[in-house]
Amino acid sequence: MSFDDHKFCVAPMMQYTDMHDRYLIRLISKKVFLYTEMIATGSLVYGKCFNQLDFNNEEHPIGVQLGGSNINDLVECSKKCEQYGYDEINLNVGCPSDRVQKGRFGACLMLEPQLVAECLNNMKNAVEIPVSIKCRLGVDNNESYDFLYNFISIVKKSGINIFIIHARNGILKGLSPRQNRNIPPLKYDYVYKLKKDFPDLEIIINGGIKNLHQSSEHLKKVDGVMIGRSAYENPFMLKDIESQFYGIDPATNSKKEILNQYLEYVNKQLVHGHSLSKMMKHLFGLSRGDKFAKSFRIKVLEIIKNNSLKGHEKELEDLLIY
Ligand SMILES: Cc1cc2nc3c(=O)[nH]c(=O)nc-3n(C[C@H](O)[C@H](O)[C@H](O)COP(=O)(O)O)c2cc1C
Repeated sequence: MSFDDHKFCVAPMMQYTDMHDRYLIRLISKKVFLYTEMIATGSLVYGKCFNQLDFNNEEHPIGVQLGGSNINDLVECSKKCEQYGYDEINLNVGCPSDRVQKGRFGACLMLEPQLVAECLNNMKNAVEIPVSIKCRLGVDNNESYDFLYNFISIVKKSGINIFIIHARNGILKGLSPRQNRNIPPLKYDYVYKLKKDFPDLEIIINGGIKNLHQSSEHLKKVDGVMIGRSAYENPFMLKDIESQFYGIDPATNSKKEILNQYLEYVNKQLVHGHSLSKMMKHLFGLSRGDKFAKSFRIKVLEIIKNNSLKGHEKELEDLLIY
C-alpha cells in the first residue's frame, strides 16, 4: 500500500457502515478506503460472533476496526482478520462511550500510550498487513498540543505509521458519544502540526469535513481525509473522487445506475437471509439534493415497512432525477 491509498477514507460508524453500506459506497467510488464498524475483540474471542467479519469481495480496499486493549486478544483477532482477507487492521482509540471505557478501550487509552504502543507492536508483528490507529487529540482537559505530541511519539515506537486523527478531544465523563462528536471544538491545526513534526508518518485527518472542496484544502497539509457523517448523508458526493483527485473517470455519473446495481445486490442478499430494512436504509441519502428527494425517502420507508421490494424497483428509479 502507498500513502495514496488513504487519500480518501470513509469513517467507521457503528450501525451505519455495515457491509451493505460499504457495498453501496464502493459502487460510487472505487478508490475510497473503507473501514468496518468497530468490533470489540471480546465479541470475537469469547462471543465467537464471526459473522461481524463478513464483507463482500468488492469492498477492497477495506480495513477492519478492532476495539480492545488485551494484547493476546488483539493478536488473536488480528490474525483472524488477516485470514478473512482484510487489507488493514485499525485500533480504535477514539470511542468515548461508557461501555467501552468499562472495557478499558477506546478513547480512554489515550491516557495509556505505552499500553497502546505495546498492543500495536504485537498486532503488527502478528500479521503481514498494515496496522493503523484512529485516535483523538486528547481526552478530558488534556488539551495541549504537547499531550498529543507525546502520545504520538510513544505510539510511533510500535512501528506503525498510519495515524487517523479525529481532530477534537474526547470527553470521558458527562458527554454522550453523540455530543462527543459535536461539542469538543475541532482543532485541525494540531493535526497539520503533527504532519510537520512527524513527516514520515501517514496522517489522515477526520472530523467535520463536509465535501470534496474542504477535503482538497486539508490534503494540502496532510496525507488523507476521512469523512463520516457527510458521506453517509450524501454518499453520491464521493463520485468525483476519481476524477478530481486521481485523474481517472468516475465509476458513474448516474444515481439511477447506482440504485439499480444496489437493488440487484439487495435481491441477491435477501436470498442469503439478510434483512431488507438493514439494506434499504442506506439508500435514504442517495436522493439528497434531488427534486423528489422526500418522495424517494418515503418510498424507501414504505418498502421497509411492508418488507417487500419486489415490483417497486422502477418506482424508486423514477424518483431519482438522473
Ligand atoms: C453513528 C456513528 C457511529 C460511529 N462509530 C464509530 C466506530 O465504530 N469507530 C470509530 O472509530 N468511530 C466511530 N464514529 C466516529 C466517526 O468515525 C468519526 O470519527 C466522527 O463521526 C467524526 O467524523 P465526521 O464529522 O466526518 O462524521 C462514529 C460516528 C457516528 C456518527
